[in-house]
Amino acid sequence: MAQKTLLKGRVLSFTGSPFDGEPTEATRLDEAVVIEHGRIAEVGTADALKKAHPDAVTKDHGTRLIMAGFVDPHVHYPQTAMIASWGKRLIDWLNTYTFPEEMKFGDFDYATEIANRYLDLTTAHGTTTMCSFCTIHPESVDAFFTAAQQRGQRVVAGKTCMDRNAPEGLRDTAQTAYDQSAALLEKWHRVDRLSYAITPRFSPTSTPEQLEAMGALWAEHPHCLMQTHLSEQTDEIEWVRSLFPDARDYLDTYEKFGLLGQNGLYGHVIHLEDRERDRLREVDASLIHCPTSNTFIGSGLFDMNGLIHDGHRIGLATDTGGGSSFSMLRTMAAAYEIGQLRGRPLHPAQLLWLGTVGSARSLRMDDRIGNIAQGMEADLVVIDLASTPAIAQREAHAEDVWEAIFPTIMMGDDRAVAEVWIGGQQAA
Ligand code: GUN
Ligand code: ZN
Repeated sequence: MAQKTLLKGRVLSFTGSPFDGEPTEATRLDEAVVIEHGRIAEVGTADALKKAHPDAVTKDHGTRLIMAGFVDPHVHYPQTAMIASWGKRLIDWLNTYTFPEEMKFGDFDYATEIANRYLDLTTAHGTTTMCSFCTIHPESVDAFFTAAQQRGQRVVAGKTCMDRNAPEGLRDTAQTAYDQSAALLEKWHRVDRLSYAITPRFSPTSTPEQLEAMGALWAEHPHCLMQTHLSEQTDEIEWVRSLFPDARDYLDTYEKFGLLGQNGLYGHVIHLEDRERDRLREVDASLIHCPTSNTFIGSGLFDMNGLIHDGHRIGLATDTGGGSSFSMLRTMAAAYEIGQLRGRPLHPAQLLWLGTVGSARSLRMDDRIGNIAQGMEADLVVIDLASTPAIAQREAHAEDVWEAIFPTIMMGDDRAVAEVWIGGQQAA
């Protein structure tokens, strides 16, 4: 018989968006959750669940927080080994650190080593789903999906396509990008918990022919996600303008080739023009905020408040290794800090929502992951709200649960992650 588990603790879930009205009104706290067959069987009071599930193995987590595993909708797993590389802005950073490292991923064994290292690190930090760029090499995609499949993880990934402005050995062509992406999509999309994302890196590293080929592939598979970068740094925007003199703006370099759509994920989106904002909103595309990356590479301050106000769909991501952390807690802290710089502090409920439900919504997976509710997939994280002396002494005199949680958001790391469950199995 399948193992049934009852986890006791402070079970946090969301009943709506904490950006609509008073943030805490969109949250719910229960005493226990029952996991069975890889899914959430029930949520409720400890007594009621114990009575209803006398056969469940009980684990009592006391005052620890139990919530959905973190969802990270924009990462580059191949950049794991070169995270925290010093002193460059975007274009130089790519040429100096990123491309030489990505060159190694034609070797399936190396790609497998880094994929497993990346998934070990992110699991330890409580992240259970991510959407990753791979490299131009099909081996890098096979390695990542194989590693995630072995762990039963829900992940999204795609071959990063580039046919110009990248070094020899890191370029494909319009045709090979199409052919290899199509073959990988066929091989991996909707296998177990895996999904394929069509992945042109960004306009500067694709010819119009390649963008057109990617747009054609997406039109053939409109249910697939498409991920790319948009409007991250002002130098990059100038470069795009010179490479695509006929385009109305940066977004137009995607739009005119069929790469703007509802299932599109656009990373960074900092320096948007009004037309770009309007079009992204009209098609209900996903905007991915990568706060540690945006400060680390020196890109700028994402307009969370304005974009939320306008009704944009927003996810929160690490952007490993342009981002300087594997931790979604650290990423929430950076989002808070950027909110402060823009005059709008984010409530802890909003930060936790962005890193779970919000990011799952950005991946169009919020019916399956990112929250705790009956029938949803059992990807959970158990968080110790007093994981270090510094956090514990602040948490000790918190007056409510949000004041108890906030020090862990601001100062917590993998030490705060007491347990992780992936697909109903304990993973850490
Ligand atoms: N723009 C194009 N490629 C990348 C990348 O790998 N990281 C970041 N942060 N921005 C990019
Ligand atoms: Zn990126």
